Amino acid sequence: MASSRKFFVGGNWKMNGNSESIAEIVKNLNKAEKDFTRTEVVVAPPAIYLKQVVQDLNGKVAVSAQNCYKVSKGAFTGEISAEMIKDVGAKWVILGHSERRHVFGEKDELIGEKVGHSLSAGIGVIACVGELLSERENGTTNDVVCRQIKVISENVADWSKVVIAYEPVWAIGTGKTATPEQAQEVHQMIRGFFKENVSSEVALSVRIIYGGSVNAKNCCELAAKPDVDGFLVGGASLKPEFISIINSRN
Ligand code: 13P
Repeated sequence: MASSRKFFVGGNWKMNGNSESIAEIVKNLNKAEKDFTRTEVVVAPPAIYLKQVVQDLNGKVAVSAQNCYKVSKGAFTGEISAEMIKDVGAKWVILGHSERRHVFGEKDELIGEKVGHSLSAGIGVIACVGELLSERENGTTNDVVCRQIKVISENVADWSKVVIAYEPVWAIGTGKTATPEQAQEVHQMIRGFFKENVSSEVALSVRIIYGGSVNAKNCCELAAKPDVDGFLVGGASLKPEFISIINSRN
């Protein structure tokens, strides 16, 4: 049975691009957007290009920041706030990405605080979770993902503005995608967590998207799984094949 959850595809450009290449990606998205009828599409440029992308997109594709801090303003050199993201017209922020967790050492508690503040500031949150290869190998995937989800959920009152991205760390930027079965298994487990710990309504309605080496070749098989409600795409979101990924459920 096809779910009633609207398919959601995010493009996380990470620290890539410049004014020229970003203008080109935006041009291609604008050309293709008439096809995005059944999918919610969001792109996340580096913060310095947020305003450019918001201004240049036609309007169907929303814009997300890749990170923000847990308060509105103050002496936090180098940081941006959810209020600033909203001020330039972006609608979303990615929080808890594995690169924030593992390259920059962000802990569950900080990520939870960022989620709470961003939602109260009025922007949507794409909250990322996922296990390391060592954790998958020692059988603790579910424990790790549940621990991360629990801290996030303690900071959410309105789930309509939250998308969960399951991104196994071993699949990010490695060309090693989770199999559709592996993704489905964890997504189903996450939905079960929501049913038990939040509510049946949230379990049914929250979108759980997959990230980690998604490309035009593997997206359709992943999209066919009942609990895969979309993707968070890194490398392939900078390329024309992003359009095929957006349309993988159509
Ligand atoms: P890749 O698609 O490049 O593996 O990156 C996934 C990711 O981290 C999206 O947030």
